Amino acid sequence: MKNLNSSWRSPSNIALVKYWGKYDPQLPANPSLSFTLEESYTETKVEILDEEASEDFDFDVYLDYRKAEDFKPKIQKFFSRIEDELDFLRGRKFTIHTYNSFPHSSGIASSASGMSALALCLLSLSPSGAEMEEGEFFRKASEWSRLGSGSASRSLFGTLALWGKTEGIAESSDEYAIQYQGKIDPVFTSFRDTILLVEKGQKAVSSTAGHGLMNGHPFAQQRFAQAHDNMALLQKILANGDLDKFGNLVESEALTLHAMMMSSQPYFILMKPNTLQILESIWHFRKETQKPLFFTLDAGANVHLLYPESIEQEALDFVNSELKGHLKNGEYICDRVGSGPRKI
Ligand code: DP6
Repeated sequence: MKNLNSSWRSPSNIALVKYWGKYDPQLPANPSLSFTLEESYTETKVEILDEEASEDFDFDVYLDYRKAEDFKPKIQKFFSRIEDELDFLRGRKFTIHTYNSFPHSSGIASSASGMSALALCLLSLSPSGAEMEEGEFFRKASEWSRLGSGSASRSLFGTLALWGKTEGIAESSDEYAIQYQGKIDPVFTSFRDTILLVEKGQKAVSSTAGHGLMNGHPFAQQRFAQAHDNMALLQKILANGDLDKFGNLVESEALTLHAMMMSSQPYFILMKPNTLQILESIWHFRKETQKPLFFTLDAGANVHLLYPESIEQEALDFVNSELKGHLKNGEYICDRVGSGPRKI
């Protein structure tokens, strides 16, 4: 028997309407919608070796050719959630090799790109996946990705992905994401995301623990209702290309996410002084120039600058002159809306 392997590159994504709050098994408390990124990705290769396993799911995982023991628990948890579908992995040893395009411990969540790349490799190797037509394959890969990390479900599709049952979108589901099929004004298909690295290293609160803070949160129900309203509003904005309304919605979503963390028990502030300085500079820039430059945040201190391709040069000049001083080692990553995973 020879070694069998599969390799995929899968991107990260940035949520515009945020997923924050979940219940078993990895189902979202509200729908979310994200831009798929292009330059921030994980490449993963799963190789089933011609060696007998000494236990169930006998594998080693490597990051940049170095053993990454700390990745194992999250992967094992993921396997346990889909173990009935992983019979083909039993009995033989296998390896997982993974590489991130973004700097190690840049504070960028690698779980979305990492878990989706892993799910794609596993599904490609599985006898059932090998028989699926493309649509079914990516839907199943999204479902498996979700079981690894919720936001990973959205990394399977180009441009914009939607996860969670959404009013008026019959194909939407809590179990998997879909490619957003509504009308999209062309301004959004080439949007830029410049990721400003305020803080590197481990996040103060893991996102899994963060989601847990929404259980019994005093404002949870209002927040979930707001997310549904924002999903409806965002669909209109995506269709008509109203950038002011887009920025207002996206910035409000980001600040609400952080407000939820500040008002949970225990409470956290994940923004840093430099995060706030950057947000103020963005508002100042916008007031002075009237240019459509906006921010969003994930569950950490870094800032994602979102803007149309047409103002790229001005935006980068602004980053270099006004914001760079607030960044860890002056570092930022230039990304943009991307086309989804690809087999390598
Ligand atoms: C703030 O997908 O990282 O980035 O499902 O526990 O793995 P788990 O959480 P994760 O949560 C991401 C939360 C967020 C918002 C978002 O991406 O929608």
